[in-house]
Amino acid sequence: MKKSLFIVIDGIDGSGKTEIIKLLHNYLFSKSKKYRILTTREPTNGVYGKSVREMLAKEKDPLSSSKKLMELFVKDREIHLKETIEPFLRNVKGNEANIVLCDRYYYSTIAFQGAQGLGIQEIIDANKSFRKPDIAFILDVDPMLALERIQYRKKEKFERLEFMKKIRQNFLKLPELLEDNIRVINSSKPLKQVFENVKKETGRIIS
Ligand SMILES: Nc1ncnc2c1ncn2[C@@H]1O[C@H](COP(=O)(O)OP(=O)(O)OP(=O)(O)O)[C@@H](O)[C@H]1O
Ligand SMILES: [Mg+2]
Repeated sequence: MKKSLFIVIDGIDGSGKTEIIKLLHNYLFSKSKKYRILTTREPTNGVYGKSVREMLAKEKDPLSSSKKLMELFVKDREIHLKETIEPFLRNVKGNEANIVLCDRYYYSTIAFQGAQGLGIQEIIDANKSFRKPDIAFILDVDPMLALERIQYRKKEKFERLEFMKKIRQNFLKLPELLEDNIRVINSSKPLKQVFENVKKETGRIIS
């Protein structure tokens, strides 16, 4: 068994990331007392993460904000890794295994800021020094269906159909563009089935 495991769940808004991460957390938590699990998200609640949220709430012109947003995401991620994720993964005790579950990662920055007009390669370069997850799940869903799922929420600017389609296409390009261990999971299916697939793939790398 691996002593430390870094798992990322990513995908467009409403693709089911938060639901899947909760299910995965509960599943792993009950599976073995040896697992210590840290469930976390980006953007974080730190200073840069907060600036990101403020910008997303205020900014009306996506093109002008894409560069600034990317820089904030990168700084937020740097601190998230240095202060939270990496210390947790390093600090393995006895026969325990430390598992980090992270809701969104640099895949989102590439897909979203890419859809805002920033060059994909530029975003990849800005993120290339960051630790690669042991496995990254991209939850893939038709943006129409995703929007139906989150229709009760107040919409952010990224949650418009045309934008979401671009973001989805960017996510789908990632397995070719990166050397990361990425699994694209069909998330149009009922939650239970989506989770079964995530569980199966996780099981493969865990044992
Ligand atoms: N496979 C699914 N089938 C049906 N409903 C789903 C499925 N996955 C998620 N949902 C529902 O869709 C809504 C959005 O899911 P969730 O909050 O997990 O998405 P998310 O990817 O975390 O979105 P965001 O990026 O906006 O945080 C929730 O109400 C959730 O219960
Ligand atoms: Mg979520």
